[in-house]
Amino acid sequence: MNIALVTGASSGFGQAICRKLIDDGYKVIGVARRADKLQKLAEELGANFCALPLDVTKKDAVESILLQLPKEFQPIDILINNAGLALGLEPAYQANYEDWEIMVQTNIVGLIHLTHHLLPGMVERNFGYIINLGSVAGTYAYKGGNVYGATKAFVKQFSANLRTDLLGKKIRVTNIEPGLCGGTEFSNVRFHGNDEQAAAVYEGVDYITPEDIANTVSWLVNTPTHFNVNALEIMPVAQASAGLAVYKETK
Ligand SMILES: NC(=O)c1ccc[n+]([C@@H]2O[C@H](COP(=O)([O-])OP(=O)(O)OC[C@H]3O[C@@H](n4cnc5c(N)ncnc54)[C@H](OP(=O)(O)O)[C@@H]3O)[C@@H](O)[C@H]2O)c1
Repeated sequence: MNIALVTGASSGFGQAICRKLIDDGYKVIGVARRADKLQKLAEELGANFCALPLDVTKKDAVESILLQLPKEFQPIDILINNAGLALGLEPAYQANYEDWEIMVQTNIVGLIHLTHHLLPGMVERNFGYIINLGSVAGTYAYKGGNVYGATKAFVKQFSANLRTDLLGKKIRVTNIEPGLCGGTEFSNVRFHGNDEQAAAVYEGVDYITPEDIANTVSWLVNTPTHFNVNALEIMPVAQASAGLAVYKETK
């Protein structure tokens, strides 16, 4: 039975991915900081799920906790680097620097911690799959997306570079790049707990759901092992790139 490790398993995409992969017959390790949420998920998902409370930004903790994984949850064949967040939507000149640091630490540094730790084992076994959660924000600039979009551009390029380094090995890498998705805590986190402001983002939009993303992951991991989807950009029909803006001075 293949074993998957999913970061950001306490809510949103991560939680839905854990549910779907368990349903598909995988063993799943769910990582997030909130132990209570993981515990609840463990009670729902049963013995094939292992709750692993962990802050992905802490390199030493990542390494020591992963080394102590129960034998029945090793080796890890599938890594889903999903933990991530956006903080704030202010223009760069008004943004909170601490928000920028947290986004870099989580979306970039956390993702490379897990990858750096697990990739050598995959190479040794010549088998594995890394799925990263990028974003359309890594491709299309939008107002207030400054550092968040830049972290996702890192994830996009890192995914492509991994493919290059892994040429000749039976290890697959995909960057999933979603657009507007609701039913997660993403906007509640972005607006620092202002739930009204978060809800307004999704008003009147038939958005992508966590289950849509989980079904996509399920499809990817169940494709034949000779087949690699390098990147997958997904938007709700209600969203599109809407052109470049021009500022005109009034005389
Ligand atoms: N929703 C969207 O519209 C959207 C669109 C494109 C891309 N994405 C990306 O998709 C991913 C999942 O987003 P989501 O919408 O599902 O958001 P979410 O509901 O807020 O989930 C984020 C998850 O990341 C975990 N996390 C955050 N910091 C962590 C840390 N330091 N260590 C371990 N876990 C951490 C959170 O758990 P704890 O708080 O318990 O640690 C939570 O489980 C993110 O990478 C996001 O950037 C989202």
